[in-house]
Amino acid sequence: MVRQKATNITWHQGAITKQDRERLLNQKGVVVWFTGLSGSGKSTIAHAVEERLFERGHLSFVLDGDNIRHGLNKDLGFSPEDREENIRRIGEVAKLFAQAGLITMTAFISPYRADRQKARELLPSGEFIEVFVKVPLDIAEQRDPKGLYKKARAGEIKEFTGISAPYEEPLSPELVLDTSLLSVEECCARVINYLEEKEIIPRD
Ligand code: ADX
Repeated sequence: MVRQKATNITWHQGAITKQDRERLLNQKGVVVWFTGLSGSGKSTIAHAVEERLFERGHLSFVLDGDNIRHGLNKDLGFSPEDREENIRRIGEVAKLFAQAGLITMTAFISPYRADRQKARELLPSGEFIEVFVKVPLDIAEQRDPKGLYKKARAGEIKEFTGISAPYEEPLSPELVLDTSLLSVEECCARVINYLEEKEIIPRD
């Protein structure tokens, strides 16, 4: 729990509202929160969705685990406390991006239900779309794109999600994408379809 340290601060509301920016962009500002094991396909799908949206004239942005840990969150490791703080900061940043009117996608393992729930609670209902990128552990481990599962099995990485640290599956995500069964294209199409159904973007 991070306590507020600053006093004598007031919220400044500008004249341009989220709705104004959404009208300008012809889309709704939302957070699409991808969660799943390392190697499940979160970043790949998020970037594929970003490309499709871009082609259709929509502005989106992907906040990606490995990238954010090079900058904003480089002071954090993988203990439960650090992961909680990682997700808390990302939740706040994602909320700002959504207020800017962007279709904001986050690709973090975000293994703890309680931390994802807190990120959800930062946004009005309907503006937080949790996408469970589901894959059996053995398949993620076979893919091992960064060679990290191998290192984790060898004991060279401690607290590795799925091996020596937990992953708590979402109980009621808005979408489930099983990447052991679906292609990247199909996963992408399902996300876009969801955005259309909820009128976050107009139909093509
Ligand atoms: S989270 O658990 O706090 O949400 P995040 O998505 O930011 O994790 O970072 C996960 C990425 O960090 C993985 O894709 C992997 O490349 C790398 N990584 C390094 N060490 C670990 C670890 N112990 N557990 C999980 N991922 C790790």
